[in-house]
Amino acid sequence: MTTVTTLRLDADAAGIAEAGRLLRAGRLVAFPTETVYGLGADATDGRAVAAIYAAKGRPSFNPLIAHVATIEAALRFGRFDAHATALARAFWPGPLTLVVPAAPGGHVSDLARAGLETVGLRVPSHPVAQALLAAAGRPVAAPSANRSGHVSPTTAAHVLADLDGRIDAVVDGGPTDVGVESTIVACLGSPPVLLRPGGVPRDAIEAVIGRPLAAATGEATIAPGMLASHYAPEAAMRLDATAAEPGEALLAFGPDVPPGAANVLNLSVAGDLAEAAANLFGHLRLLDASGVRRIAVMPIPPEGLGEAIRDRLARAAAPRDA
Ligand code: TXA
Ligand code: MG
Repeated sequence: MTTVTTLRLDADAAGIAEAGRLLRAGRLVAFPTETVYGLGADATDGRAVAAIYAAKGRPSFNPLIAHVATIEAALRFGRFDAHATALARAFWPGPLTLVVPAAPGGHVSDLARAGLETVGLRVPSHPVAQALLAAAGRPVAAPSANRSGHVSPTTAAHVLADLDGRIDAVVDGGPTDVGVESTIVACLGSPPVLLRPGGVPRDAIEAVIGRPLAAATGEATIAPGMLASHYAPEAAMRLDATAAEPGEALLAFGPDVPPGAANVLNLSVAGDLAEAAANLFGHLRLLDASGVRRIAVMPIPPEGLGEAIRDRLARAAAPRDA
């Protein structure tokens, strides 16, 4: 692909206006959301969406999330049943994606939906994302703004490390604070199905719908972005480690860090899962960049956001495609 000059835009009125203009012109703009940075393109423009796949080197069968500024806008692009409506009202704007049947005249491009009859919709809460979506005036398809198979970016610098010269602009809104992607729930009949754990914990969703979420079956076809190789650092990973072995870096969690490792980053000294989630991708990226052969990861408790963190770590540890 050809190299472009990637503009660094400030998250002020002028920067947002320029980013909105670029999106309306079919260009690629990375921007912060409350979860991770997204690589945005006009979701109604199949060519603009194709440029996302090219820039990321992403497998072409992955459907993308269409981001919109308001619930009212989302209702124009998908058909919301009672569960979807309740979840939208409870958690939007916020780190929840709803997969619903695409509305007949909805205009989210086929390519953004990877040919599916469904559409993934999200109303992000980040003020920069909100301002940009308002400026764009159309749904913005945005996967995480990383090269395919790399870890998701939580700063503009991470975005540029992967995509400088491959995208038109990045809006720098500082570090994102949730740090793991949105929770994805499919509302395609009863009961709703948890496709990906993320920033909204399962129990909060189940409290709203008044029943347990179903588990995803055949996830490789229903949510191909969950393929095991999706979150893969260069280094090998060893999970639930109690200490680092010689030659390993240690991704620690909590106050009781075993001595002996030379290369240690702690997800949260206080043992706070929200802090750990916010640090997860940045710490993985830093340890990976140190050129270490393997990263040992201390146990993360499986409650609340811990489920999403463990899910990400398991994917990072899974055997890779060539
Ligand atoms: O927090 C997030 O969700 C971030 C920010 C940028 O919004 N985005 C993100 O996008 O994580 P991405 O492309 O890395 O992951 C989107 C996931 C993929 O697993 C994809 O397969 C799934 O959403 N998805 C999107 N539309 C879908 C659909 N119609 N049916 C099933 N899965 C869908
Ligand atoms: Mg991603």
